[in-house]
Amino acid sequence: MTKERVWEQLRQTEGFVSGEEIAGKLSLSRAAVWKAIEQLREEGYRIESAQKRGYRLLPSDVLSEEGVRRFLKTKEIKPKVYRSIGSTNTVLKSLAANGEPTGTALIAGEQTEGRGRMGRSFYSPKDSGLYLSLLLRPQLEAAQATRITACAAVAAAETIEELSGRRTQIKWVNDIFLDDRKVCGILTEASVDCESGMMHYVVVGIGINTRVPEGDYPEELRGIAGAVFGGQTPDSLRCRLAAGVLDRLWGYCAALPEEDCFAAYRDRSLVLGKAVELLLPGREPERAVVLELGRDYSLLVRLADGSMRRVQSGEVRVRPAE
Ligand code: BTN
Repeated sequence: MTKERVWEQLRQTEGFVSGEEIAGKLSLSRAAVWKAIEQLREEGYRIESAQKRGYRLLPSDVLSEEGVRRFLKTKEIKPKVYRSIGSTNTVLKSLAANGEPTGTALIAGEQTEGRGRMGRSFYSPKDSGLYLSLLLRPQLEAAQATRITACAAVAAAETIEELSGRRTQIKWVNDIFLDDRKVCGILTEASVDCESGMMHYVVVGIGINTRVPEGDYPEELRGIAGAVFGGQTPDSLRCRLAAGVLDRLWGYCAALPEEDCFAAYRDRSLVLGKAVELLLPGREPERAVVLELGRDYSLLVRLADGSMRRVQSGEVRVRPAE
């Protein structure tokens, strides 16, 4: 497509490149080049133009398929980028049910019906986050799904750290925190063959808050949600983020079941040794202290009455120091 070819020319040039030069190289008319530049600007690319010098691409954070491909190393991953979508998990699950192959990744700049764990919604505004889902068809039993989720948490944590230079923490089960604010959530959904107990497919959904949305987070998320970056984001941030998370996640899941990300996950634990509030389905919140993270990612906790309990699923809230 003309637009992509013009973008490639701009990208390859350090400083300014004239419309005439681009037109010559691509055998296009000057008007076609100008039109492509306008289309790129509409998509959010920042392109400076100066008389007699031509055009120059400035840093921007446009989320595009060609942008993600530029950074993606895993050839088995097939990215599809949407400006806006209902929910990448919901759409990918329906594609998966219709035979979509492993490695398909849906990546969006906005979700209008983003979903979180426990039936909650996931706030997914445009220009402020990255929302993606990866389809995997692992030869694994359903019991291994927790390990996939842990791989996703580590993949997201490491990529956020690489791009931001900040150390993340993982709040059990799989929320990523920066400075006591949640910056990333993960929703893993699977279809299981009840006869064999093996998974048909897994859809791993990851949502990362890259910037505080214009006008701040909605009231109910203030003080809870945070963003990885403040102010100007690095060039192609969301493309790099998407590629980094997907590459790592793919690599870690390929090593299952022999190896997983336990050490990297435990290292970042936000809850180990902390006083927490346990939120288990169908029960009142309970006070507890987290003593240990099991190899199966369960938590060993001591309850207020002194009894011990191993918790496989649910949620914990870290209590302020008393
Ligand atoms: C949570 O924090 O409760 C989990 C949030 C998971 C959000 C991601 S964004 C991409 C994918 N699509 C969804 O609808 N949800 C997940």
